[in-house]
Amino acid sequence: MANRTTFIGGNWKMNTDAQGGIQLAQTLASGFQRDAGVDVAIYPPFVYLRDIAAKLGGSGITLGAQDAYFQPNGAFTGEVSLDMLKDCGVSSVLTGHSERRHVVGETDLLVNKKTRAALDAGLQAVLCIGETLEQRESGKTDAINEHQTRAGLEGISKDQLGSVVIAYEPVWAIGTGKTATPEDAQDAHAKIRELIATMYDQQAADAIRIIYGGSMKPGNAAELMAMPDIDGGLIGGASLKADDFLSIIRAGQAHQV
Ligand code: 13P
Repeated sequence: MANRTTFIGGNWKMNTDAQGGIQLAQTLASGFQRDAGVDVAIYPPFVYLRDIAAKLGGSGITLGAQDAYFQPNGAFTGEVSLDMLKDCGVSSVLTGHSERRHVVGETDLLVNKKTRAALDAGLQAVLCIGETLEQRESGKTDAINEHQTRAGLEGISKDQLGSVVIAYEPVWAIGTGKTATPEDAQDAHAKIRELIATMYDQQAADAIRIIYGGSMKPGNAAELMAMPDIDGGLIGGASLKADDFLSIIRAGQAHQV
């Protein structure tokens, strides 16, 4: 069986304020046991990254950004470059989150450009994929996952794939309290891993971490992560409560040993 380090990400989305965000980061930094064999990253809003970086220093928690633009600089009003994020201490970036695909309107092509740019800049990319409720009900889950995975990874070498985490986040499970059953999530993850084997090779498929997102919380994290192809979680709502997020991290640690 492949030996993959569990990855737990906390996507804060457009939540917290300066004081609350810093407090949350500080509580996580003091509560996290860095030698416990789990990779943990948090993705606060852009504007708090620098202050939060100062609080995370030495904790072992990775600082990530929820998005990044693919161009290095120029006339791109409102956008944030990867070098700017690196200046703030960021080393991981979410790409293709469903809220960016479905609320902001990002295309597969843009998601691919951002993913490639993040990797070219030496950052980790967490590529998010997943089907909507309508797509699920019409039996298109696997086709959507395949399409978004192929499109998102277009032009990415096997070497670069080592810095990619895939987050399977069924859109209907995000922020709804509805979670995919461990069996349904496992089935989707196993198919994504098989796809990686056909796109790259078995070694790449065995190595890549595929994490689950969508209403993951302390009460369901352990059973989801117990599945053989679920290598961690990307957590929204529950990552805003330090106790809940730390409890999910502990569930990941238990799974790791
Ligand atoms: P929730 O955990 O709030 O469902 O959000 C999941 C998510 O979108 C993480 O990126």
